[in-house]
Parts: sequence; C-alpha cells; structure tokens
Amino acid sequence: MLTDRYDNAISTSSATARDLYVTAVDKLLEGAPHMIEAFEAVAAEDPDFALGHAGLGRAHHVTGNVPAARAALEKARKLSAGITEREAGHINIFDLLVRGKSPEGYGAVVDHLAGNPRDAMVAQTSSSIFGLIGFSGLPGREAEMLAFTSSLRPDYGDDWWFLSQYAFSLCETGQVDKASSVIDRSMAINPRNSHGAHVRSHIYYEAGETEIGVSYLEDWLKDYDRSAIMHGHLSWHVALWALQMGDTERMWEKVEAGVKPGATLGPPINVLTDTASILYRAELAGETVPIEKWREVSDYASRMFPNPGLSFIDYHAALAHAMAGDGDALSKIISNPKGPAADLVREVAEAFGAIAGQNWLKAERLLTHCMADDARLGGSRAQRDLLEFSLLECLLKQGKTEEARRLLAIRRPVLVGADVVQGL
Ligand SMILES: [Fe+2]
Repeated sequence: MLTDRYDNAISTSSATARDLYVTAVDKLLEGAPHMIEAFEAVAAEDPDFALGHAGLGRAHHVTGNVPAARAALEKARKLSAGITEREAGHINIFDLLVRGKSPEGYGAVVDHLAGNPRDAMVAQTSSSIFGLIGFSGLPGREAEMLAFTSSLRPDYGDDWWFLSQYAFSLCETGQVDKASSVIDRSMAINPRNSHGAHVRSHIYYEAGETEIGVSYLEDWLKDYDRSAIMHGHLSWHVALWALQMGDTERMWEKVEAGVKPGATLGPPINVLTDTASILYRAELAGETVPIEKWREVSDYASRMFPNPGLSFIDYHAALAHAMAGDGDALSKIISNPKGPAADLVREVAEAFGAIAGQNWLKAERLLTHCMADDARLGGSRAQRDLLEFSLLECLLKQGKTEEARRLLAIRRPVLVGADVVQGL
C-alpha cells in the first residue's frame, strides 16, 4: 500500500494522487497559499480517494468555510468502504469537528493518536492555540497543550511541523529559551512554514525582542502570499510591534492593508479578533481611534458571528460593540454567553461595557476576577495582553498608578518599561 509522508497507509493506488496528497498536507501544515486547490488536485487525480476529500474538508474548515467543509467530508464518508481503520477514524474526527462537536472530537483525537500517533493532520487539530485544547475553555489548557505535544515527541523526531508546534507550547508555558532553540531547528528544516514564523514571532514577543522581532517578521512576510491563511494575523503582529515602538504610522498602514475587514483574506476569526485587539491596544497606548473604525469591526462581528459560541471570538466582539456604542449587540453576549468559559465571557463583556461608560471601578473588579484564569478565554499570551492592559488602564484612571505598575511587574515583567498603556 502507498503511504503518506508520515508513513501512514493510504487508500489510493495512484502514485500521482499520493504525491499530490503529500504536497497538500504539507501546504495545510505550513499554512501555505493555495491549500484548497492542492486538495482539489488530489480529488481530481483520484476521485475515489476518501482522504483527499477529507483533507479538502479540513482545509475549508480551517479557513472558515463550513458549508464547503461539510460537503467535502460527506463525500469522504461515502467513499469509506474498504479504507483502513486509521483513515476511517481520521475522517470521523474531521466530521465531528465540522459539526461543532469539539469536546467529543477531542476525545476521539486522543484515542486515535494512541494507535496512530503519526497522523499529523489529526494531531494538528489540537496542537496549537486555535485548536481543540486551546479553545477548550478549561482550566490548565496551556499545560495540557504542552503535555499533548510532549507526548508526541518520540514519534515525530526532527519533523519541522511537529517542532513548530512543540515550540509554541513551550513558549506559552514560559519556556522561552527552550522554545527558541526548538523553533530555530524547525525553521532550518522548513523556512517557509508560516506557523513556524508565527511561533518565532511569539517567542520574540515573549522575550521582549521588539526590534529584532519586527525586522524578522517584515522580512519573512515579503515572500508570503497575502491570500494565505496566516497573512492577516502576521500583519497584526507587525502592527502590534510598530505600536509598541511608537511608530503609529506604520501600525495604521499594516491595519489598513492587511488586518481589518475587507483588507485581508484571512479567516473571519482573525479579522475580528485582530482588528478589535489592535484598535483597543492603540487606544490604550494613547492613540485616537475614530468611532467609524469601531463601528466597522462591530458590524463585522454582528454579521459574521451573529450568535455567541466561542469565548475568544465573543469577548473581542463584546469589546467592539462596547466601543462602537452598540448596546444591543453587547447585551446579547452578556445575557447569553456560550461554552465552558461562558462565565468569563459575561464578566469581560460587562467590563468592556463599564469601560465604555467610564465606570473604572466596576471594570476593575470584573477584570480582576477574570484574570485569575484568563487563559480559559482562549488566545495566546500576546493576545491576552489586551485584557492585562485593559485592567491596568482601569487602575490608572483611578489614580492607582503604583498598583498598576506592580501588577505589570508581577504578571508581565517582560513588558515593564514598554509604553503599552499611556500614563503607566
Ligand atoms: Fe499570534
């Protein structure tokens, strides 16, 4: 039987389809441009190869096209007669995920990997910040992600994709030096891995290497197609660093060209969360943000995510609605939060409402309570700095400057001295 790059048997007798499949999987794992087309080429070469359709479904799912994902997975299921047990499990997992059954899907991932640890497409569902562990809403999810990637180490060795994921889990649990050497190894093997460049950027951020970081990432982005999945989010990273360096012109340039709604082809989850985040961090740093910009992102949130569902999306939507003055949309999130982190979503949404109304003490109390376990809300440490800095602002507005400085020194020591909040 033919095998994929990870030595898993695959049910196609066409060597060409196999080669195309290996290429398509690599494109998905590295966040390369044209991954949808790559899986379509597999299906065109061997229309009966179930995993080709499953991969297409997964590619549609990660780029936010759920109807197309469901259709492709339906096709994969219909072609399941005679495929291996691993392939059937692989298809079943993607099908669970596209139907929104994340906790059940994660259970299936763990069981599946116990017998098929080198099914990288399945491992990928849970190995990164935007994955089943990252968005679980459960306490201890950063440690769990490190435990997850660590458990796969013996099976992946020097694989560039695996190393990039392992490095991210090290970075997010504070092991920055170790993460740095692991990502260097990964990028030496595959320098065009956009997820690797992303992890490299997070490591620079966590090390406080602003100037090195921004020059690295700007350089890396030069050869990265703007239609690819990570282009918008990597542009957000550049904008964030530009803001930190006081270069607001460059920050706005990046936001307008590659982050905000209509400027990027990235997944809607990134468009909303990155735009809301950079606008508010700009305000915190002392920049004036016109209300029209808030209305634009608030409208986008209402259009793309009309109902609460995922805490990471919902709290950014709440921020946008609060700043845009859309009380109805904000109330919808406060009154009906969803998921395992719903308790925190409600509090953060109320806090942003209080901030918009300049009720700093109320916002301080709500945010203080959330910060005990804000990782449950989802997102990287760099993304959750939005919440850290919002709390600092509440303290500063009440004249509690020393408390704000102490809090930053305890919680985010690497950012002491950076002008992240005006007046600090
Ligand atoms: Fe990031």
